[in-house]
Amino acid sequence: MDLRLKSFEEYKSAYKSSVENPDAFWDGIAKQFKWIKPYDKVCEWDFRKPDVKWFVGGKVNITENALDVHLQERPDQTAILWEPNEVNEPALEISYKELYHKVCRFANALKKQGIQKGDRVVLYMPMVPELAIACLACARIGAIHSVVFAGFSAKAMADRINDASAKMVITADELRRGDKRLNIKEIVDTALEECASVERVIVYQSKGEKHNWHEGRDLSWDEAEEGCSDDCAAEPMDSEDMLFILYTSGSTGKPKGVVHTHGGYMVYATYSFQNVFQYEPGDIYWCTADIGWITGHSYIVYGPLISGATTMMFEGIPSYPDPGRFWKVCEKHKVNQFYTAPTAIRALMGCGNEFVEGYDLSSLKVLGTVGEPINEEAWEWYHKMVGKENCPIVDTWWQTETGGIMISGLGDHSPQKPTFAGYPLPGIQPVIKNDKGETIEENGFEGLLCIQHPWPSVIRTTYGNHERCKQVYFSAFDNCYFTGDGAKRDENGMYRIIGRVDDVINVSGHRFGTAEIEDAINQHPEVIESAVVGFPHEVKGQGIYAFVIGSSNIHEEGLEKAVRAIVEEMIGKIARPDHIQIVDGLPKTRSGKIMRRILRKIVANEADQLGDTSTLLDPEVVDKLIDGVKT
Ligand code: WTA
Repeated sequence: MDLRLKSFEEYKSAYKSSVENPDAFWDGIAKQFKWIKPYDKVCEWDFRKPDVKWFVGGKVNITENALDVHLQERPDQTAILWEPNEVNEPALEISYKELYHKVCRFANALKKQGIQKGDRVVLYMPMVPELAIACLACARIGAIHSVVFAGFSAKAMADRINDASAKMVITADELRRGDKRLNIKEIVDTALEECASVERVIVYQSKGEKHNWHEGRDLSWDEAEEGCSDDCAAEPMDSEDMLFILYTSGSTGKPKGVVHTHGGYMVYATYSFQNVFQYEPGDIYWCTADIGWITGHSYIVYGPLISGATTMMFEGIPSYPDPGRFWKVCEKHKVNQFYTAPTAIRALMGCGNEFVEGYDLSSLKVLGTVGEPINEEAWEWYHKMVGKENCPIVDTWWQTETGGIMISGLGDHSPQKPTFAGYPLPGIQPVIKNDKGETIEENGFEGLLCIQHPWPSVIRTTYGNHERCKQVYFSAFDNCYFTGDGAKRDENGMYRIIGRVDDVINVSGHRFGTAEIEDAINQHPEVIESAVVGFPHEVKGQGIYAFVIGSSNIHEEGLEKAVRAIVEEMIGKIARPDHIQIVDGLPKTRSGKIMRRILRKIVANEADQLGDTSTLLDPEVVDKLIDGVKT
């Protein structure tokens, strides 16, 4: 199935028809997929509720499209190419036929353990092929997977398991990341002390030790598969049946479970994959994300596999054993499309050109970035040092909630401009709004980025709380999806994403709500109050800055340590503040509201531009904060 647009002219004409007649446009694409029963209607929608349905009445299973359809045409082609953490271990090639049988066998294992259509299964795994296999096996039988990134703490996992009432957890005995080794089964054990819904734990054992085994609950991957057939009929799913839940942070409250469905997600992840990366048969495609994030779901697993691509999975990290690892792997496997995050590019750029120069990167055709705005310096370095000025850079803007890439160049076809993501994909209708909700028609003005017509992989709900989905995404502006990002268009209509306009911070491409981190800090008995803001960080994009008021029972150093430890416990190491400033007051309005705007200016070293502080209850607080600021 070749869904590629092959020139900018073709893009422009596809875009035009996608806006003029979205149903006809998406029908033309969707009918190329394998449907168990064809859909009756392309789309039904009402953003005000929100109620969005795509490919209404259709029956489908996404794994038939990712696996079965390839058995005839490319059974022996590598589907998943796995590069292990250790340089001296061989890479693993899993063909489409092998992957089909592995998925079917594990799907049968899940069934045997009582997992049924609609059950939720949480995956807490290293970047091994079994993670992709487990996702696909869930989808095969209609179970709903929810991958929790294996950098989250036991508590964060427990919150997600409980929110989804998951029946099963799939994990591993060991996670390798660089020179670190972590027994993640232990973290699952701790999480499950708080989770009554989980009946079974399946442990993928790379080391083979049965550590702290809970008889009756724990089962090794091999035990679970014993006696299971390697054929398993795909469960016919309604287009709108849930495929997965993925938790992500928002500006308020706990992370929410973003829900995607079989039909629409399948179509959009595939269409966007093929067009953005311009994948051609035989290419080796590598996305360096972790499957714990949406990028891994859409662009390591589903989009590439449905397209019949060879998709690489990398277990390690860019700096191990040295900062040349990415390029070494690109050379070794002759990678054609390479997709990573600006934070990785900036970190590697800082290590020096000598780590790139020696490698043959001539196989590269398209370079991609995702997760945060890419600054011009990093863009230029990527373009020159990695792409040797021969590769287009696709700066892909999208979100967990959008399911797929929304604004981006299409391979070599689109005009490029550093720091601009570019043009919307066909079917995507962005608008820029001002605070009053009016659409800014003119180019050149910054505003709030919204999308005004559904696309097949738009978020359907937030698991267990539809009202929250409505409030967060569909209530700010009438009949529009609100992204939470600020953006502007240049004179040619290209979009530049400025960054979040809400209390979400983006640290190395990972999303956190400031409230979520404050809630964690406030759990400490010696903390009276805290305020968390993001600050510009050279490598991470944004860093986390916490202002903390402690009780008189604890000295500064002890409190700082305690704050770091409690964030690590409640969320995970990835959310630990970079700076903690112990203070005795926060800038508050007379009504008691913390003025975050002021805190953000202080930590960005822009204290000379504080603006109006006359509404503050105690303006002197600000001077003290400025005096003590950490950089
Ligand atoms: C940000 C990641 C600028 C943005 C796929 C968005 C970007 C949030 C870009 C979603 C980009 C993502 N340029 N900003 N190319 N891509 N973002 O849900 O603020 O982890 O709202 O999805 O990342 O992060 P999420």
